Amino acid sequence: METTAEQYWTHRYQQDQTGWDVGSITTPLKTYIEQITDKNLRILIPGAGNAYEAEFLHKKGFKNVHILDISNFPLENFKNRNPTFPKAHIHHQNFFKHKGSYDLVLEQTFFCSFEPDQMTRVKYATKMASLLVPKGKLVGLLMDSSKMEDNEFRPFGATKADYRTYLKPYFDIIVLEECHNSIASRKENELFGIFQKKAITKTQKNNPLHGITLKTIVTELVERYGWEELGKRVQINSFVTNPSVNSSLKFLRRTPWAREKVEQLYIYTFKK
Ligand SMILES: C[S@@+](CC[C@H](N)C(=O)[O-])C[C@H]1O[C@@H](n2cnc3c(N)ncnc32)[C@H](O)[C@@H]1O
Repeated sequence: METTAEQYWTHRYQQDQTGWDVGSITTPLKTYIEQITDKNLRILIPGAGNAYEAEFLHKKGFKNVHILDISNFPLENFKNRNPTFPKAHIHHQNFFKHKGSYDLVLEQTFFCSFEPDQMTRVKYATKMASLLVPKGKLVGLLMDSSKMEDNEFRPFGATKADYRTYLKPYFDIIVLEECHNSIASRKENELFGIFQKKAITKTQKNNPLHGITLKTIVTELVERYGWEELGKRVQINSFVTNPSVNSSLKFLRRTPWAREKVEQLYIYTFKK
């Protein structure tokens, strides 16, 4: 059964409404890839579309390249163009359901393909971080909305401040600047970013929740606020309809954005 998001994107490919697709690898990603020497790096390209970067990497002899897209349409194109690319490395899947461990994630107009709401963006950042090994890198060619006249339609842009806000909790920002080698049609409309996942030790050291279980967090918040007030502060069903610690834990463990909100409330309440 296709999901709505899958139908949406497939429809855009079927109707050839793919203004983001330039038909080949773009200069910034090509330049970045050309300086990588380790051909065994585990690389993920989520929201890959026609995945020209993966084709380039494959032809250069990179062995562990994975592409992922919610729509099968561009993945089929990719398979036809690259019959020797390992089929097991082609994931027709929702990014948020993907499990894996990568050294490098390459993204191009993926962040901005989601609705520009806070929850989705937090979800994107936490998911990216969870897919990377400590010190792994997210390298992105990101649409810059600061000069866009129309930001009402997908792909939506975001500003440098937006990217910084959402990625900073999990990544050290190595580079985030106006892209200097964009293709002509995108000149001055995109940012180039290199974000390095914080090392576990540093994250743990700075993490005020280190060593505190989710069960403790939920239990103490319920004791402090009660279910009704908690449901107002973090609007999720498990806090409102027949609330219990167990059902809340079940939901929070598989819903990173909600967990993040609950954890932030705990820090705000008890650690400030
Ligand atoms: C704006 S396009 C960019 C495609 C490609 N990166 C490029 O630059 O040509 C966004 C892509 O993300 C895919 N996509 C959107 N939501 C997704 C999700 N939740 N999981 C996986 N792929 C998704 C779409 O199908 C589409 O191919």
